[in-house]
Amino acid sequence: MKIIKDIQELKQELKLTSESIGFVPTMGALHEGHISLIKQARDENELVVVSIFVNPTQFLQGEDFSSYPSKDLADTKICELAKVDILFMPDTNTIYKKDELSVKAPQKRSYILEGFGRPGHFDGVLQIVLKLFNIVRPTNAYFGKKDAQQLSLIKQMVSDLFMDINIIECEIIRDDDGLALSSRNTYLGSDEKKLALNIVKSLRVATQEVMTGTQDIEKIKKSMEIVLKDMDIEYIEILSRDFKKLENIELKNSIILVAIRVGTTRLIDNIWI
Ligand code: PAF
Repeated sequence: MKIIKDIQELKQELKLTSESIGFVPTMGALHEGHISLIKQARDENELVVVSIFVNPTQFLQGEDFSSYPSKDLADTKICELAKVDILFMPDTNTIYKKDELSVKAPQKRSYILEGFGRPGHFDGVLQIVLKLFNIVRPTNAYFGKKDAQQLSLIKQMVSDLFMDINIIECEIIRDDDGLALSSRNTYLGSDEKKLALNIVKSLRVATQEVMTGTQDIEKIKKSMEIVLKDMDIEYIEILSRDFKKLENIELKNSIILVAIRVGTTRLIDNIWI
C-alpha cells in the first residue's frame, strides 16, 4: 500500500492506471463500517483509494473538530489489511487555500435535519467531497447509508454538476447490540451506550408498525417517541429517500431518521423502508 500526502504525486500515480478506481473518503478513526465500504470497493474495482482527512469546513464553531478521534497508526494498519492500494492523507493546507471558491449546498435539502442546527455543515461536506473527487477521479465512490442526508446531497451534487462517478450506497453496519457504528461511539460510556440502544429499538418499533400495515407517519413517530421518552431527541423524521415530505409511508421510498443526544454525544441513525 502506498501512503501519499501530496496531490500531484497522487494524480501522477493514478494517471498510470486505466483500471476502475474505487474510492472511500473518510475522516479516519476507521471501524467495521468503513471496513465494509473498503471491502465492497475492493470487490468491485481494480484499484482502491481511501482518503483520511478530518475536514475542518464541515465542523461548526464549538464542535468536536480539534478532539475528533485520530488513529493514524491503527487506520494505516486497517487499510493495509484490507488491501487498499493507496491511502491518501493530505494536510489541511494542501487541501484548502485562503479566500477560495466555495460550494453551496442546495438550501431546501441541506438546512433541515442534520443541517438545521449545523448551518453550513453540508457546504463543507460537499466542498471537500468535490475536491477529493477531482483529485482521485474515481469510477465508484462508496458512502454509508447511516449518513443518509449526506449521501443524498452527494448524489445530487454528482447529478447537478454532471460528474461521471457512480455513488454506491452501502448498508449501515451495526454492533452485536444493534448500535450503528460511528467514530463518535468511542465517546460513549457504558451507561450511555445502553441508553443509545433505544435508538435502534425505536427504529425496530417503527419498522414493525410499517410491516403490520401502518402508513400514518405521525402515528409511527409517536410510537418512536414512546421508546425514546426521557431522551434528548433532536429529531425524529420520516421523509422520502430524496428528503421530501411524505403524506404517508411509501414502501421502498421512505427513510425513518433519528438524531439523539446521549450526554454530550450526538448520534444519528435511520432505516430505509
Ligand atoms: O462521512 C464522512 O466521514 C465525511 O463527511 C466525508 C464524506 C469523508 C467528508 O469529509
